[in-house]
Parts: sequence; C-alpha cells; structure tokens
Amino acid sequence: MFNALALALLTPGVLSSVLHQIPVRRDSSLSSFIQSEYTLSLQGVLNNIGPDGSKVAGASSGVVVASPSKVNPDYFYTWTRDGALTLKVLVDSFIAGDSSLESTIQQYIDAEAQIQAVANPSGDLSDGAGLGEPKFEVNITAFTGDWGRPQRDGPALRATALIAYGNHLVSKGEESTVKSNIWPIVENDLNYVAQYWNQTGYDLWEEILGSSFFTLASQHRALVEGSAFAQTLGESCTGCDSQAPQVLCFLQDFWNGTSIISNLADDGRTGLDANSLISSIQTFDPEAACDDSTFQPCSARALSNHKLVVDSFRSIYTVNSGKSAGSAVAVGRYAEDVYQGGNPWYLCTLAAAEQLYDALYQWNKQGSLEVSQTSLSFFQALTISAAIGNYSNSSDTYSTLTSAVKTYADGFVSIVQEYTPSNGSLAEQFSRDNGTPLSAGDLTWSYAAFITAADRRNGTVPSSWGSSTANTVPSQCSGSSATGSYTTPSVGPW
Ligand SMILES: *[C@@H]1O[C@H](CO)[C@@H](O)[C@H](O)[C@H]1NC(C)=O
Ligand SMILES: *[C@@H]1O[C@H](CO)[C@@H](O)[C@H](O)[C@H]1NC(C)=O
Ligand SMILES: *[C@@H]1O[C@H](CO)[C@@H](O)[C@H](O)[C@H]1NC(C)=O
Ligand SMILES: *[C@@H]1O[C@H](CO)[C@@H](O)[C@H](O)[C@H]1NC(C)=O
Ligand SMILES: *[C@@H]1O[C@H](CO)[C@@H](O)[C@H](O)[C@H]1NC(C)=O
Ligand SMILES: *[C@@H]1O[C@H](CO)[C@@H](O)[C@H](O)[C@H]1NC(C)=O
Ligand SMILES: *[C@@H]1O[C@H](CO)[C@@H](O)[C@H](O)[C@H]1NC(C)=O
Repeated sequence: MFNALALALLTPGVLSSVLHQIPVRRDSSLSSFIQSEYTLSLQGVLNNIGPDGSKVAGASSGVVVASPSKVNPDYFYTWTRDGALTLKVLVDSFIAGDSSLESTIQQYIDAEAQIQAVANPSGDLSDGAGLGEPKFEVNITAFTGDWGRPQRDGPALRATALIAYGNHLVSKGEESTVKSNIWPIVENDLNYVAQYWNQTGYDLWEEILGSSFFTLASQHRALVEGSAFAQTLGESCTGCDSQAPQVLCFLQDFWNGTSIISNLADDGRTGLDANSLISSIQTFDPEAACDDSTFQPCSARALSNHKLVVDSFRSIYTVNSGKSAGSAVAVGRYAEDVYQGGNPWYLCTLAAAEQLYDALYQWNKQGSLEVSQTSLSFFQALTISAAIGNYSNSSDTYSTLTSAVKTYADGFVSIVQEYTPSNGSLAEQFSRDNGTPLSAGDLTWSYAAFITAADRRNGTVPSSWGSSTANTVPSQCSGSSATGSYTTPSVGPW
C-alpha cells in the first residue's frame, strides 16, 4: 500500500466522484458517536478477514485483507504490518472478554505459519530474509510485483500480537499449546529482528529506504517482550537479549532535541511524521513511567514531538483553517505527502488522540505530571499559564492541565466524527479540502485504530511489555546482529 511505485500510476482526482458526500455526524455527541462507531469498527475489521469476511470473498482462512478496494488503489492483499496491528487489537479485545474472537485469532495464526514459509521476492525462510516481505496475495501465495521491500517492522509486530495471545493462554495453563502452536512462529520473527534490525528497509508508508523510527521502536518492544515470553516457556532468545539494548541505543539517534526525525534517510523531508505518533502508541506501556528513552506517550520527548507533528499539518489543509493553536486538527502522514492527494488520514488523526489518552492514563497512574523545559511548549499551547514544575494529582494545576489534554485529545476524535460518513465507514483518507472520504474504503487499519483510541479513552489498556526492564540506554551504541535459525512452523490442533 502507499507505494512510491504505485504513486506514479495514480492520477490526482480519480476519486472526485465521491466529493459531494456531506458528513452528517456533526450533531451526535462524541460519546454516542464513539459507542456506535466502535461497534461498526469491530465489524469493519471482521468483514475484511477471510474466509468469512463479508467484504473479502476469496481470502483464505485467517487472512487479514488491508481493504476490499481492488482498484485505485488496489489493497486486496494481506500486509504483515496491517494484519499484525489488527490482530493485536482483536487479541486485546478477546482478553478483555470478547470470546467470539478466539477462532479468528487462531485462524490468523494458522495463516501466518503458512505465510512465513512462502518464498517471495525478499527471500525465503532458510536465512529468515523472506520474513521481511511486506505483503502477500490473499490466497497465501507470494506477491511478485515490484514493491518497496523488505519492510522489517512486520515480524516484530506479528511477534507482539502472538505473544499477547500466548501469554494469555499460558495464564490459563495452556503452555503446551503455546509451545507447539505459537512459539515456533514467534521464534522465527524474533530471530529475524535480532539478525536484521541494523539493516535498512522501507518505512511503514512503503516509500523511504532507510532507518524508520517506527520499525526500530516496534523491534525493540518485540525483543524485550520476546525474551520474557521465551523464559516463560522455558525457551530462550539469546538474540533478543543481546540486541535489544543496541536497538534502544540507536533509537536515541532519532531525537533532535525537540522532535523525532521519523526516517534517517536521504529523503528531503523535515522528519515530522505520524510515524512517530504511531510508534508512541505501539510502545505504550501502561506500567511505565514517562520515560524519554522509550518515548513513552507521557514523556517530555513524545509530547514535544506531538506538538511539532500536529502543528506541521495546521496550515497545509483547508479543513484545518481557522483552528487556533492548541486545538485539534486533522492529521496526515507527513506534510510533504502527495499520495492519493496527500490528505489527512483517519488512523493518523486517531493516533494523535490515542497518544494523549495513553499519557493521561500514565499520569493518573503515577499520581503526578511533570512539565519540563522540553514539554513546556506542548502544555503552553493548551494552557497559556503552564509553567515548569511537578504537579501532584491533588493540585489544581494537575486538574487544569489534564483536563486540557483530555479536551485536546477528544478534539481529534471529534474531527474523525465530523468527517466520518453517516454509514460509519472508515476509508484511508479524507479530503484536505472538504473532508470527504478518499482513497481505499473500509481500511482495516482505520477501524483497528478507532478501536484502540476508544479503548484508551475509556481507560482500557493492554498488558505491559516490560519496558521498565529495558529503558537503560547503553553508554555507547554499536551496530550489531545476532544470526538466528529458522524453522518451518506447523500449527497443530488448538
Ligand atoms: C493466488 O492468487 C493469485 C492472485 O489472484 C493468482 O494469480 C494465483 O493463481 C492464486 N494461486 C492459487 C494457488 O490459487
Ligand atoms: C528538529 O527537527 C524539526 C523538524 O525538522 C525541526 O522543526 C526542529 O527545529 C528541530 N529541532 C532542533 C532542536 O534542531
Ligand atoms: C493520586 O495518585 C495516587 C498515586 O497513584 C493515588 O493513590 C491517589 O488515589 C490519587 N489521588 C487522586 C485524587 O486521584
Ligand atoms: C520533578 O521531579 C523529579 C523527581 O523528583 C525530578 O527529577 C525533576 O527534576 C522534577 N522536575 C521539575 C520540573 O521540577
Ligand atoms: C458508506 O459511505 C461511503 C461514503 O459515502 C461510501 O463510499 C461507502 O460505499 C458506503 N458503504 C456502504 C457499505 O454503504
Ligand atoms: C466504555 O466503558 C463503558 C463502561 O465503563 C462502556 O459502557 C462503554 O461501552 C465503553 N465504550 C467503549 C467504546 O469501549
Ligand atoms: C546500525 O547501528 C549503528 C549503531 O547504533 C548506527 O549508527 C547505524 O546507523 C545503524 N545502521 C542501520 C542501517 O540500522
């Protein structure tokens, strides 16, 4: 999806036929919108998963299709990244009590075991290289066309989704099922990350060959929780242990003092990119403090970055005109974007909200909030009188600041509400000029992003990934790699 090669084939305005749509949800209150859209989003996800998804006839069992759209753009494929991010959402909802999702989760795992073994243009499983392939046909065969490959975030994200389900099964005493059906897939993915993290690849938008913050942040998380998961099962992941500190070390290079430079590459961009917002929610740990080293949502770094990234969209979209500094705006991928018109994206706007809901959770949990030199400008944009200091949850300042952040976060969801069509369907983008839905319709990731933002707003959070055990940055960074072994996984009965 969103490939630079595909980009060249697209004529601007191909979707102008839908531009007359008028958003009609402005009047319903935010919480009732969230409640109804939440239900639609879960169904929207399930509609795009084979074999029974109503919008993806022909997709194999457990295959997560990115969107039913087959032309302009053609997203009728399964991306490892989108599928894993989506399944993490389903796993968390399953653990929270929606038992109807378990068969879909198991079918996904069956499908991914097969996908790992499919030789493809990135390589095959013998040395792990094939795991970096970004997308496959929906019948679990290789996609052989030109593409931005490899993309090294996929294995890490898949490991994270599977570990969440695996840990749940272990807690239910089903360790042997986890060892036979889940660990072999996870082990391949962890070994891939440990072996290849220090090589370049394409970013999550499939355009930039270099080092992507999102990829590395996701890899760090996977290695840390992967090591603990291995130990739980009486296995080991030596590559996890040796490489995780070095990945964390390299991640610090993306910080320039006020923001995250999302791609270290010769790309001619400012570096301000929703890549970093999505990273912050991907590595959110509900047990963490506001650690700068892991860019936790409430960290001074992540808040300063949030301001710069959001501000980079204020003046470029017509839909954002007239919104004052400190009020929410529509957020796209990055300001220089031209793909499908370079519009705001639902999932990027939702990520801006979700990071702030995560931060509110963290402040409430620790009982205090710090305004530092680094985060001061973020807070001052919301509350002009904000000043450097530590504020305990019993203080008026704490209440003032956190309620300002909550209002700001809700503002991003309100923008999504404003530009969601009356049938609740979430496309990939909405027009920068008038907010009508654009590009691929019913984007699986848009629905998944809605679910996580609504859950975090509600205080529903995923399990910790152990970031507090892995937030110490080595004094010296070094490029490194741990060569792993790879085995063809086979999933037995559940
Ligand atoms: C899988 O799907 C692709 C793309 O539609 C098609 O070309 C190929 O023949 C299919 N392969 C099998 C084994 O069904
Ligand atoms: C960091 O990068 C951003 C985006 O390019 C830029 O606006 C900002 O001024 C930079 N900060 C520093 C301290 O150089
Ligand atoms: C403040 O935070 C502490 C520590 O987390 C907690 O025990 C206490 O209940 C909180 N107080 C309020 C008013 O929320
Ligand atoms: C807030 O408290 C922490 C822990 O005591 C301290 O390290 C930090 O410097 C304080 N920040 C400010 C702005 O006073
Ligand atoms: C929902 O509305 C959008 C925008 O008007 C439209 O593109 C889409 O086809 C509709 N979906 C359904 C299932 O009617
Ligand atoms: C939020 O939580 C309330 C109960 O605390 C529940 O009724 C509501 O459905 C939840 N909303 C979402 C979107 O999860
Ligand atoms: C490899 O790691 C080193 C040390 O952090 C870093 O300087 C280098 O840029 C990294 N290269 C890639 C491609 O990840």
